[in-house]
Amino acid sequence: MTSGTKSPAACLIGWPAAHSRSPLIHHYWLRTLGIEGGYVIEAVPPGEFGDFVLRLSVRGFVGANVTIPHKERALALSKPDDRARAVGAANTLWFGDGELRSTNTDVEGFINNLDACAPGWDGAEEALVLGAGGASRAVLFGLIERGIKRVHLANRTLSRARALADQFGASVAPVAWDSIGDLLPRAGLLVNTTSLGMHGQPALELDAGLLPQNAVVADLVYVPLQTPLLAAAQGRGLKTADGLGMLLHQAVRGFELWFGRRPEVTPELRALVEADL
Ligand code: ATR
Repeated sequence: MTSGTKSPAACLIGWPAAHSRSPLIHHYWLRTLGIEGGYVIEAVPPGEFGDFVLRLSVRGFVGANVTIPHKERALALSKPDDRARAVGAANTLWFGDGELRSTNTDVEGFINNLDACAPGWDGAEEALVLGAGGASRAVLFGLIERGIKRVHLANRTLSRARALADQFGASVAPVAWDSIGDLLPRAGLLVNTTSLGMHGQPALELDAGLLPQNAVVADLVYVPLQTPLLAAAQGRGLKTADGLGMLLHQAVRGFELWFGRRPEVTPELRALVEADL
């Protein structure tokens, strides 16, 4: 193809092909900002991922989102920024200074969603993070970057919490799952990164009544949108940040890198994606 004659397009690379809200989000921004461009889903099996990424530009793409199972490989095949390196996975690729570069936009998505939903949340002295998977890494990196001094990391499998905490230094302390109740009264910020509360999964059993009066509660689960945890927190009048907000905010950076304009997370976009959940 001849570059410069076609409108820019990005893609979401995953395997197997799965339903994603990303096309809806990026098409909304392209439309409302009046940018001629595209965003498509590309189902690429693991064995073909390397070749696909190396030929991304030849295929006519200005960049890509990367999802399961390719995020670690995407990191290895590109020049990652600090966030992607710290999280150990890249979810966004773009070209900068002639190189294929990568970042992990979950960090920014998590933090910017909190800023939007609960300004001042970073005044919390102690945070309690539940879960020690990939999502938890992005959350921990964001919290430390924002200067939260003490993060308690609780996970059903304590060894995973220990291993993750080790990578983040002294401000992250691994704690046993059954000590959550003891830590809630000190948690100015509570974050659920586990799958508990997700549609089809068991509920997250904890007493939100134990949280301090001005606590902020974030849940990364977004199906259902209002998890039992968020409902309990809101019932107490606490500020909350939901998983859909994080999903929308994490998409901002990719769009900006590919299409050159920083889009906004509007109530209209939220309603559009909510209708697709
Ligand atoms: P992700 O990359 O989305 O964070 P993950 O790596 O599969 O996903 O991690 C899922 C998290 O949910 C883990 O912290 C997991 O706990 P374990 O490390 O003990 O597996 C947590 N989780 C899943 N089901 C759970 C349950 N029934 N009770 C408590 N924690 C659970």
